[in-house]
Amino acid sequence: MAVDLLLGLQWGDEGKGKIVDVLTSKYNIIARFQGGPNAGHTLVFNGKKHVLHTIPSGIFHENKTNLVGNGVVIDPVIFKKELDKLEEQNVDYRKSLLISRKAHIILPTHRLLDAASEASKGKAKIGSTLKGIGPTYMDKTGRNGIRVGDIELADWKDKYRTLADKHEAMIAFYNVDVQYDLQELESEFFKSIEILKSLKFIDSEEYLHQAQKRGESILAEGAQGSLLDIDFGTYPFVTSSNTTAAGACTGLGIAPNKIGEVFGIFKAYTTRVGSGPFPTELFDEDGETMGRVGNEFGATTGRPRRCGWLDLVALRYACQINGVTQLIMMKGDVLSGFKTLKVCTAYNYKGDTIHHLPFNIEEENVTPIYTEMKGWNADLTEMTEASQMPKPLMDYIKFLEKELEIPITIVSVGPDRKQTIIR
Ligand code: GDP
Ligand code: IMO
Ligand code: MG
Repeated sequence: MAVDLLLGLQWGDEGKGKIVDVLTSKYNIIARFQGGPNAGHTLVFNGKKHVLHTIPSGIFHENKTNLVGNGVVIDPVIFKKELDKLEEQNVDYRKSLLISRKAHIILPTHRLLDAASEASKGKAKIGSTLKGIGPTYMDKTGRNGIRVGDIELADWKDKYRTLADKHEAMIAFYNVDVQYDLQELESEFFKSIEILKSLKFIDSEEYLHQAQKRGESILAEGAQGSLLDIDFGTYPFVTSSNTTAAGACTGLGIAPNKIGEVFGIFKAYTTRVGSGPFPTELFDEDGETMGRVGNEFGATTGRPRRCGWLDLVALRYACQINGVTQLIMMKGDVLSGFKTLKVCTAYNYKGDTIHHLPFNIEEENVTPIYTEMKGWNADLTEMTEASQMPKPLMDYIKFLEKELEIPITIVSVGPDRKQTIIR
């Protein structure tokens, strides 16, 4: 059976966690393929909110398998905290949670290196979540990393020591003020490693291959968003993994010709947390309203998210790179009450009108060109069917479908699992 993908099309936080949870009932296996605890995926059901960082968003469903794939980077300390929270909710994860032996491990010194690197950059900092993501992927591609399978080996602590010592020298080289007590950090780290070791480690590419042969259905869950992709995002203000469809191939061992549906998820407006260009960003009352009504604060760091109008130039680019077959629009309810909505349909780029994302989208090069649309004033949050939607919302959806040439098959009108309209 083909593997379906669910990916964020903007700068992350589109609502992937919610929709994976909604779609899980249709699948046997939910698999995360990249990123790590920089992600914060929020699920709301039965009046309770849950935030997952590394664990796939299918974990609350019984009889489903949740796999942390080889492309993910795992911080055992954060992972343990996630497991503790699941235990509080009586979620029996021991049977259902599998971890790839090829996933890389975030060491305490990776986090410190992240902090030192950001501090050394001053104003030019990336705005990293400081979870050690960049340094861990650097060690992966530099062929120095420690993988989950390594911690099953007798001599892995020697390898750990060598790497951590090298990291300490690198931290000193940055010559910035990063305070730490490595002994304390290591004590927590090694305790958490023991918890991690009590879970089931597998050769996940083989597992997924056999599952496909048995006819099991698989949903690959992305983290971050396409504009944070290491190759196609707004470099250098990106994360350190391929967040796009190709990342699911390398992060799980799925062959490209085995990919089925590609669900692309976007907010009805745009948000970004951290530094970097954002052509449609608003600094006025409209942006403030989006942030307040949309409760736009990072699920991992609590930082306020920057808000702006929907950018179809960037969205079209993300759809192309991912081969999106179905679109999912989130948070339409947040736009209720705006008299007029703006949608960016082209850029003025150094005097020319362009419809693609150029190499450089910094403010001095790019000015968004907007189409104005009538807003809606109805409360969408109680709606369960497309027929209940106000006409201006339908017009907004149809306009996007026409511009992007892809159907919007799901419309989310609130954070709860139930606040979801299937079209
Ligand atoms: P993810 O990282 O893509 O999983 O998204 P986050 O969980 O970081 O951020 C999405 C936020 O929007 C969360 O607080 C969700 O509970 C919330 N949310 C998701 N869908 C909707 C929606 O349709 N309407 C509203 N108002 N909130 C939503
Ligand atoms: P989810 O999966 C939004 C951003 C950070 C920073 C940049 C690099 O919840 O959508 P990193 O810690 O990866 O070195 O940070 O990427 N970022 C995210 N923004 N949602 C995320 O994940 C993000 N993960 C990283 O804010 O700008
Ligand atoms: Mg998030």
